[in-house]
Amino acid sequence: MLPPFFVAKLMPTTCVVGILWGDEGKGKVIDFLAADADYVVRFGGGHNAGHTLILSSGKCVLHLVPSGIVHRHVVNVIGNGVVVDPIHLVNEIQRLRDRGLTVDPGRNLLVSERAHVILEAHRIQDQWAEQARGKGRIGTTGRGIGPAYADRCSRIGLRMGDLLRKDLLKAGLLRLCAEKNAMFTAIGLKALDANLLFDLLTTAGEQLRPAICDAGGVLRAAHQAGKRVLLEGAQGCLLDVEHGTYPYVTSSHASTGGAFSGTGLPPHAMRVIGIAKAYATRVGEGPFPSELTNDIGDRLRIAGNEFGSTTGRPRRCGWFDAVAVRYSGELSGARELTVTNLDVLRGFDPLQVVTGYRLADGTMATTFPAFDLESVQPVFQTLPGFHEDLREIRKFDQLPLAARRYIEFLEQQTRMAVTTISVGPERDQVILR
Ligand code: GDP
Ligand code: IMO
Ligand code: MG
Repeated sequence: MLPPFFVAKLMPTTCVVGILWGDEGKGKVIDFLAADADYVVRFGGGHNAGHTLILSSGKCVLHLVPSGIVHRHVVNVIGNGVVVDPIHLVNEIQRLRDRGLTVDPGRNLLVSERAHVILEAHRIQDQWAEQARGKGRIGTTGRGIGPAYADRCSRIGLRMGDLLRKDLLKAGLLRLCAEKNAMFTAIGLKALDANLLFDLLTTAGEQLRPAICDAGGVLRAAHQAGKRVLLEGAQGCLLDVEHGTYPYVTSSHASTGGAFSGTGLPPHAMRVIGIAKAYATRVGEGPFPSELTNDIGDRLRIAGNEFGSTTGRPRRCGWFDAVAVRYSGELSGARELTVTNLDVLRGFDPLQVVTGYRLADGTMATTFPAFDLESVQPVFQTLPGFHEDLREIRKFDQLPLAARRYIEFLEQQTRMAVTTISVGPERDQVILR
């Protein structure tokens, strides 16, 4: 038998993380990589995520179900770090089945019994808080993500395993409703009805019962047996609650740091792939140094069809920001970069890339700033653009010279190796180097 070191080397865990503010094309890339995986595992976020796959039947957006679901051999796991709206999950499973996909809870879909539950109350709280913040709003997806994670930390949350234990569920709901209702009534919101919630949650729990399990134990056993585990990041490193552009972030550990705590896998060496678009986008509020608020930004939005997969909101668009990508690459441990949407840059000539930030005092930033990102002046490098259609190209050396030079410039600036380039939304529209 091979010593464990060699097993790990032969069958590494791979973690795919978004490098900026989400929507980098993680769904497409995971679906592509899942052909060689045994397990695909979500480790954070909730149904704020929207991961797009292009199937033969057309576009399919996944919010909670991992992006390995199309591959029949893959076990898809919703890890303990995810916050799960059970009613949404039941509906999402039905929607996928209606499209002809096989979703078989307990066989190809597992949900950690430790994952926390998103309740209607969390959604109400999220939307109320956003409204109360007025101009200072975060621009959340309004799906209750922040309040659900807050309740986990406050130790009044419910876990998916509670849905299968009526006594625990009832007691947990009474406790939670008492606490929430004290606040809800004080701010003029309708009080929650613990009995009604109990009925809704037990019904959803029964439908999900075969899937709810000790997913961490399953994954540790799989890891020890040398199975190939693909960890599917949601959101992006700059939305990470600790390392992102706080407070304009989500409430989970979206960078690689969340991959162990969010799955129950022990820390071990793994391959980390960062994903970034060939330009930058952001949905919601918050600083965005390379943002284009002019007609070039509008053209990028149209060319890239940059509208949110979850909320349909127009995405803010800007040039590739090598300072931000380098920071996220270092933070996430990603030495490899997959660059998506290169095809979208066709006809944008010249191209620009942010290579530095000038601070308010005139000096150049040497690290990614934790404060005052809104006041940095980006420094740009201009490069020639290309005019050819890239969508049918499958080899790097067949790309137009300007596109190759652009990718090489990104490598040099980010200090990451661009190993995969995506030139269209479909699974086979990739260039492997
Ligand atoms: P995710 O959240 O990271 O999975 O990304 P989304 O699915 O929210 O957004 C990415 C969008 O870009 C989706 O509409 C994809 O179909 C699309 N997409 C992915 N890769 C490419 C690409 O290389 N070129 C183009 N034109 N679109 C892409
Ligand atoms: P995927 O996985 C893009 C953003 C929201 C908002 C902030 C906080 O598809 O890349 P939240 O509802 O999480 O409290 O909102 O985070 N956001 C995303 N933006 N892609 C996502 O997921 C996102 N998930 C959250 O727009 O700015
Ligand atoms: Mg998305």
